[in-house]
Amino acid sequence: MIRPEVDLGVTLGRIAMRNPIATASGCSGYGEELARFYDLSVLGAIVTKSITLKPREGHPPPRLAETRAGLLNAIGLANVGLEAFLGEKLPALAAYDVPVIVNVAGATREEYVEVAAALDAARGVAGIELNVSCPNVKQGGIEFGVDPAALAGLVEAVRPRVARATLIVKLSPNVTDIAVTARAAVEAGADALSLINTLRGLAVDPWTGRPVLTNVTGGLSGPAIKPVALYMVRRAWEQVAGPRGVPILGLGGVQFVEDVLEFLRAGATAVSVGTANFVDPETGPRLVEGLKGALARLGCGSPRDLVGRLDLG
Ligand SMILES: Cc1cc2nc3c(=O)[nH]c(=O)nc-3n(C[C@H](O)[C@H](O)[C@H](O)COP(=O)(O)O)c2cc1C
Repeated sequence: MIRPEVDLGVTLGRIAMRNPIATASGCSGYGEELARFYDLSVLGAIVTKSITLKPREGHPPPRLAETRAGLLNAIGLANVGLEAFLGEKLPALAAYDVPVIVNVAGATREEYVEVAAALDAARGVAGIELNVSCPNVKQGGIEFGVDPAALAGLVEAVRPRVARATLIVKLSPNVTDIAVTARAAVEAGADALSLINTLRGLAVDPWTGRPVLTNVTGGLSGPAIKPVALYMVRRAWEQVAGPRGVPILGLGGVQFVEDVLEFLRAGATAVSVGTANFVDPETGPRLVEGLKGALARLGCGSPRDLVGRLDLG
């Protein structure tokens, strides 16, 4: 078989990515951690830790617990806050030739709007990813992302204030049917979807009876959640995103090149890598290299050729 020249480039909304491999929010801060290991410009995009209006310390430790096939975390959105992000972290990221997607979190609709609008006005922000797995303090603490009406209201409020950057809504998997929240986000104006965020979990010390995390519950990530993530990407793609041409950034347990192929086939245009960075910080560049060979082996000239391609016989 003649192997085609592979062009790894993909587009996520208006973001031109040189390959479909991005970082996942919260697993490599604002890029500095990974920049010690490799040149960030080899990636398709950098997704930052969630940024809130004011700096946050997050929860006291322990806030991470390893599980048999994953990681449970309750970091509590520790971050430097909008002002320090714009003043210090974003300029440092501009040194790299890579699109920056800034993840945004908030406790109220107004907080999301204020942070998103400021980021949209800043130079060097290619995308804004809304982390909707945050409790909405005005609605009794229920997550924005599990209530389709609250989610639609949030995206509708942010949408007119994000004119330049690509608006990505990161869906929570803690719902009965991901198609319902995917539809709410897209109909409210999302340019792209990312999924999935972590699945809620609990770890207990069997001898003391204490929860391992100070926050009691945490979010599960890593290899354990990959099949759930693939199913949800597939469902969101089939029911909502695919027919409307809305791209999906897939994530949840991506570690090996085969995982990337699976996510593309399920319907993702690109993937984010989170927990795998704690095992091997060079996972990103390794996947970029591996993907070229894997696509050539499949006779594909582009990752786009695989998007949504499940062989159902
Ligand atoms: C330590 C840690 C911190 C995280 N922080 C954030 C965050 O600030 N905002 C967010 O949207 N997702 C956050 N996530 C979720 C990841 O971005 C991702 O959705 C999830 O971990 C699944 O991908 P993975 O299995 O590749 O880690 C965090 C995950 C971990 C493990």
